Amino acid sequence: MFVAVLPGDGVGPEVIAEAVRVLDALGLGLTFEEAAVGGAAYHAHGHPLPASTLDIARRADAILFGAVGDPACDALPRELRPEQAILRLRRELGLFANLRPAKSFKELVDASALRPEIAAGIDLMIVRELTGDVYFGTPRGRRSTETGLREGFDTMRYDEAEVARIARLALETARKRRGRLCSVDKANVLETSQLWRDVVIEVAADYRDVALSHMYVDNAAMQLVRDPGAFDVMVTGNLFGDILSDQASMCVGSIGLLPSASLDAAGKGLYEPIHGSAPDIAGQGKANPLATILSAAMMLRYSLGQGDAADRIEAAVAKALAGGARTADLGGSLTTAEMGDKVIQAL
Ligand code: NAD
Ligand code: IPM
Ligand code: MN
Repeated sequence: MFVAVLPGDGVGPEVIAEAVRVLDALGLGLTFEEAAVGGAAYHAHGHPLPASTLDIARRADAILFGAVGDPACDALPRELRPEQAILRLRRELGLFANLRPAKSFKELVDASALRPEIAAGIDLMIVRELTGDVYFGTPRGRRSTETGLREGFDTMRYDEAEVARIARLALETARKRRGRLCSVDKANVLETSQLWRDVVIEVAADYRDVALSHMYVDNAAMQLVRDPGAFDVMVTGNLFGDILSDQASMCVGSIGLLPSASLDAAGKGLYEPIHGSAPDIAGQGKANPLATILSAAMMLRYSLGQGDAADRIEAAVAKALAGGARTADLGGSLTTAEMGDKVIQAL
């Protein structure tokens, strides 16, 4: 089994190093091939997603991704900015389904931004559509208008096939969990959301065993902090899913905890923490590597057929946390590498 490792920028290489150490400790005989991506690739090769990196990602059985984003690149034309690398990887590889689980660890209820009794019972899965929406709709750009005023615009767009395939995946996911699916949209205002809601209802007709509900995204943001334990699976578009998953991370305790899987129609996947390159703490050994370590576990489960090894990683993370292992984001003082050590000891 061959894993493409794309560390990227900022804390990306720091958290990826720990995930690779954990995978090595399992002795699964995985082969790793590392490639440059994001700002690091722009500085080295003049492009955030060099053809050679895309090629390695295509050939790999799975991709382990750190984060991209570099303040030194913020003034570049959009197509050369580091973030384009992850957007193009998702699009070129057809990774339309982004699974972002948020589950409370009982030892961490004090790290949550919520009261302990509210934080204790979280076990939800955000299914975020990842290759459509306002992220990829055309036309887009900046033009001067008749008024002479500067104007920026992006096009929010979905077609029914894009909605149907993510709805089906979310319904299947709900069926394997507690049987409840909440579709999040803004159908009271947006045409894309009305289409979304119509299609979700149509597809759900084949899943009578799943209890489907609908919620406007503003209400969903509120309900997520009022009673997060009420959610099982949430399905939503690219932009809303991006925002709600960062919010869900603080319900659990830290953005440094939430992993993700981005899957294509055949189950091939890219695995990355939901957080970014965290330039404010990069290079200081402060980043929490658990989101990336848990992403590696998702990779073993979803793409590499190693469910037992995935269970072992998740159990080791829980054990390390139960033993008091805490990086700064969780109120502790462990470095990134020390947290990696704790997980490996627990393994
Ligand atoms: P961010 O997720 O990088 O950081 C937000 C805050 O959370 C910061 O205070 C940071 O220090 C903290 N944080 C993030 N990860 C952490 C971790 N593992 N441990 C402890 N604390 C952590 O979001 P941002 O600051 O809005 O964006 C920074 C850069 O990352 C931008 O260039 C953005 O575009 C990029 N980004 C990339 C990805 C990705 O590669 N998939 C995701 C999100 C943001
Ligand atoms: C994420 C990030 C990306 C997104 C950015 C960096 C393009 O925020 O993976 O959550 O918006 O999808
Ligand atoms: Mn995000």
